[in-house]
Amino acid sequence: MVSTAIASRSNDLYELGDVPDLGVVPSKMLAQLIRPERFGEPIDAFKQEPVEIPELGPRDVLVYVMAAGVNYNNVWAAMGIPIDVIKTRMKKGEKEAFHIGGSDASGVVWAVGKDVKNVKVGDDVVVHCGMWEPDDPWVLAGKDPMFAPTQKIWGYESNWGSFAQYTKVQDHQCVPKPARLTWEEAAAYMLVGATAYRMLHGWAPNVVQPGDPILVWGGAGGLGSMAIQIARAAGARPVAVVSGDSKNDFCKKLGAVGVIDRRKFEHWGKLPRWSDDIEYAQWLKGAKAFGAAFWEALGEKKSPTIVFEHPGETTIPTSCFMVETGGMVVICAGTTGYNATLDLRYHWMRQKRLQGSHFANDEQCIGINKLVDEGKVDPCLSRTFKFDETAACHQLMRDNKHPSGNMSILVNAPVPGLRTLDDVRNAKR
Ligand SMILES: NC(=O)c1ccc[n+]([C@@H]2O[C@H](COP(=O)([O-])OP(=O)(O)OC[C@H]3O[C@@H](n4cnc5c(N)ncnc54)[C@H](OP(=O)(O)O)[C@@H]3O)[C@@H](O)[C@H]2O)c1
Repeated sequence: MVSTAIASRSNDLYELGDVPDLGVVPSKMLAQLIRPERFGEPIDAFKQEPVEIPELGPRDVLVYVMAAGVNYNNVWAAMGIPIDVIKTRMKKGEKEAFHIGGSDASGVVWAVGKDVKNVKVGDDVVVHCGMWEPDDPWVLAGKDPMFAPTQKIWGYESNWGSFAQYTKVQDHQCVPKPARLTWEEAAAYMLVGATAYRMLHGWAPNVVQPGDPILVWGGAGGLGSMAIQIARAAGARPVAVVSGDSKNDFCKKLGAVGVIDRRKFEHWGKLPRWSDDIEYAQWLKGAKAFGAAFWEALGEKKSPTIVFEHPGETTIPTSCFMVETGGMVVICAGTTGYNATLDLRYHWMRQKRLQGSHFANDEQCIGINKLVDEGKVDPCLSRTFKFDETAACHQLMRDNKHPSGNMSILVNAPVPGLRTLDDVRNAKR
């Protein structure tokens, strides 16, 4: 890519929250870096370091980051599994031997490449994490860019994510920030919200419909909290699965018609072989009991038309078993493991669909942003961290000890509760 010199540079490194004049870009920035020699538990993997601010390509945008969202992908990046994101990029020719993660951001457009038309310096934006090359023939042909060979996730597969004072993104990643949200609320929802939106609205004919019973795994988590609200906004009836009594109310307030406590069941994990009569019968008993718990939570003997999946290995046999005839299990992750087992007899006879899904295209990001802007989906911000707590909040997530909903990190916004650049300039710190 031909790089575009940034129009106005100063030679300084600014402290967090010290705001240069609009459009003046310092030469360096503070970032929370992962380096290969620190791969392991997130608490040890992230460290604050100064780095050069990158040049922009013609369709790139430099965003002054007010707040960054916390997602599971940078738990994986910190651990170096299932892939070493730094090595993967260096193999493709990138020179930086570090990773600046962060796949959610709110902030202000600070500089733009020469061909950027949709945003200008000074715009308040939320950044989505879908990247693809603008000259990719697949994209130019108008096909879904999430299937494009050049598609990647910003702040995970790409460098220059939002755990830094500035982030480099592509123009189409920027959507208008809903004005009523604080910077930290605006950074919380896009990755999980847009992923959930594609899962529930993107796979016709299995799209969420009024009245549909929907099963949502991890209802109090980042994805799950979005899925409950998106399903509700479409008039469907989501039933959430959680572990822990304290999460019931949280899910019900978001719109779940019922909640199931997964700790009451023991049949989780890989499906036993169909010919192992005793083990299989035991598994079937557990799966049927879970199905009955779904009917009870729903208040009606109907199975889910869509199962919203992401735990993966431990839950997918149950999801595939209980989904309605002609229904869909849609899955975007394998948090508990990557081997999926299912009983194919139920799958073909009842003509079910097992659909992989990954993030979202621009239209789907705009779709979730609209629902948030209209107040139909709450960002579910549960806790806000300081920049130097980037490692700590990822460790909480890794240990499944993080609070319900979504977490944000204040980057240049000095305190919570601010909504504009002027708020940040005028804030007492
Ligand atoms: N492909 C994509 O585009 C995409 C996008 C976003 C996220 N993801 C992935 O999706 C996964 C979840 O992300 P998230 O942000 O929702 O994480 P999260 O906030 O940690 O929520 C995950 C939820 O899963 C539940 N869970 C944990 N262990 C479980 C188990 N053994 N069985 C059933 N449920 C279990 C937990 O709820 P309870 O303990 O209350 O049940 C937890 O709240 C991650 O692996 C992430 O990387 C993928």
